Order: sequence, then structure tokens, then C-alpha cells
Amino acid sequence: MKEEKEIDPDRLPSHVAIIMDGNGRWAQRHAMGRVLGHRKGAESVRAAVTTCRKIGIRYLTLYAFSMENWLRPQTEVRALMKLLEEYLDEEVQEMMDQDIRLTAIGRLDSIGEPVLSKLREGMDRTRNNKTMVLTLALSYGGQDEILDACRRMMGDVAAGRIGADEVDRERFASYLYTAGLPDPDLLIRTGGEYRISNFLLWQMAYTEFYFTDTLWPDFRERHLLKAIADYQQRERRFGMTSEQVRRK
Ligand code: IPE
Ligand code: IPE
Ligand code: MG
Repeated sequence: MKEEKEIDPDRLPSHVAIIMDGNGRWAQRHAMGRVLGHRKGAESVRAAVTTCRKIGIRYLTLYAFSMENWLRPQTEVRALMKLLEEYLDEEVQEMMDQDIRLTAIGRLDSIGEPVLSKLREGMDRTRNNKTMVLTLALSYGGQDEILDACRRMMGDVAAGRIGADEVDRERFASYLYTAGLPDPDLLIRTGGEYRISNFLLWQMAYTEFYFTDTLWPDFRERHLLKAIADYQQRERRFGMTSEQVRRK
């Protein structure tokens, strides 16, 4: 197992994104209800934020609730919103102490009150923090994000604010919820599934993927460090040859 000392501080991923999956199965294995799995998962969120802040990751993005997750039983959806509320109540002060900025991506308006106000308050309070940006993907869907961007951009084209010929990748990305965030360098998915479940479709064009069977409630610092060590073994070629990359 790679330990912290084996991580090269000069080659850290700038942006780590995580699909936090496996809470339900963790609960089932421990003969508990799914909601207790989510509660346990919130502890892993705290651990991941602490570790990333400690080792110097600049951007951490967590997939906390997908558009598709609205299809889950009402009781589970309500419990997840309640957990998010508790998380915000408990952690925003900690983010202030740790100089962490909180942001969120997704169709935030679908998140009901009082959670939405607490989320907006948390983002507002932490807006000038600089050491790390923690982004929560909430009511998030990658296809919806692209569609929302298209709609807003087409509005600007129709109003003559931009010309259709000015639309390039950079311009398009400025309409996404993630405008201003760099693309993820490393995506981690816990829980053993090999899919991206509608997460950051545009932004992950050249992201390195790391899949682990570890269920999210069991995911701790050593698992994260192992994923980063694995990332550091890879050669990111971006279409070039290995020789070209090494010469650069
Ligand atoms: C991830 O765990 C948490 C959310 C999607 C909100 P799951 O609840 O999907 O856990 P499994 O996949 O059923 O084990
Ligand atoms: C992905 O997990 C979404 C989050 C982790 C928030 P799911 O458990 O909802 O994914 P699928 O439905 O199995 O692909
Ligand atoms: Mg799941």
C-alpha cells in the first residue's frame, strides 16, 4: 500500500472529482437501512475534504446527488436532503477555519428549502477563501448541464451579444456550471461500478479514471492516497506520442 510519503508533491492532481458510490450496499452488508449508509458516507466526505486540504489538492468536486437520484423513494430523498442540511450546519465554520471555499453545481433551484438557503449562505460566507475549492454536485446531470449551457448561449447569440462564429470550446465551457473550474485531472469512483453516471461529461474529456471496489463509507485517507499514487504512475499523453510527452 502506498503511504503518504510516496506521493510526489510536485505532481499532485490539481482537481480531484469523486463519485461517492456504495452507501446502500455498505448499509445492507451491515444489516442497516440505506439511510444509515448515507450517514456513514458523510463521515467519508469529511475525511476526503481533510485529506485533500492537508496534502494540497486545490479543487475537490464531490458527486453528492444526481438528477437521476430524484427517482429514488421519497423517504430516501428526504433523508439525503436532511443529511446535506446537517453537513452544512456543521461544516461551514470548519471551512472558514480551513480557508476552504464552498461552491455547488447542478440545478440548485430544485433543492428545496431550507437546504437551498443554507447552501447559498455557506457559499456566500466562504466565497473569499483561497486554499481549496470544494464543489458539491447537487441535483446534477452532465447532459442537463450541457443543455442548460446551450440554451443560455443560444440566447446570447439570438440577442447579438456573441456571434455564432465566436463559439469555441473555451467560450462554450464558460456557460457550464463549472465555469472557472479547471477540468478534473483524476476521477475516483468507489463502489465497484464502471460507469460515470452522467457526471461532468464535457469536463472529463481527458480525465484519468480510477475505479475501486471500496464502498464509499469505508473510503479513508489511505484509499485516497492510493488513488493519487496510481494517478502519478500514469503518462498523460493528450493525443501525443510518449516520446513527445517526455521531451516536453
Ligand atoms: C451513493 O450511494 C450515494 C448517492 C447516490 C446519493 P448509493 O446510495 O448509490 O449506494 P448503492 O449504490 O445503492 O450501494
Ligand atoms: C451516482 O451514483 C450518483 C452519486 C454518487 C451521487 P448512483 O448510485 O446514483 O449511480 P447509478 O444509478 O448506479 O449509475
Ligand atoms: Mg449507487
